[in-house]
Amino acid sequence: MAAAVILTGCPAPATPTPTPTLPTTPAAQTMGQLAELGKAMYAGNCSGCHGDAGQGNRAPAIIGANANLGKYNTAAALLAFVSTAMPAAKPGTLTATQYQQGVAFLLVQNGFATASTPFDPNGLDKIALKK
Ligand code: HEC
Repeated sequence: MAAAVILTGCPAPATPTPTPTLPTTPAAQTMGQLAELGKAMYAGNCSGCHGDAGQGNRAPAIIGANANLGKYNTAAALLAFVSTAMPAAKPGTLTATQYQQGVAFLLVQNGFATASTPFDPNGLDKIALKK
């Protein structure tokens, strides 16, 4: 008697690998919208050292006349610094979104961007930190 070969779990015919789709772009946001979220983020994670209004406290001023963010030249460099160095006691612990919110907040508060400026995460190198 012939042994019956029972094929269990026969693999389905190979399906073509789906073309990877790029992450969908989040709904367009303005600096103002992000800055509004950044305000709360700042209050929770930054104000203890930099002051309630960014005027400086245990850490340098980052908003207003005494702030010296021009040394970063562009918003992209500012974001890179903040993302890797802040909060100083636990650097890099916030999400990328939170860092973007914080930088949008600093940009609007310091007059480097208006609230209606579209927030383009890939275009931050075009925002000069000059007034
Ligand atoms: C534990 C205290 C502390 C916290 C919290 C903190 N910082 Fe700082 N921050 C510092 C210190 C100290 C410096 C200056 C030393 C340095 O440049 O590394 C600084 C520098 C900076 C600078 C550069 C200022 C300059 O003139 O170069 C920016 C911008 C900044 N912090 C943003 C933030 C943001 C945004 C947050 C919240 C996500 C934050 N910091 C939270 C202590 C802190």
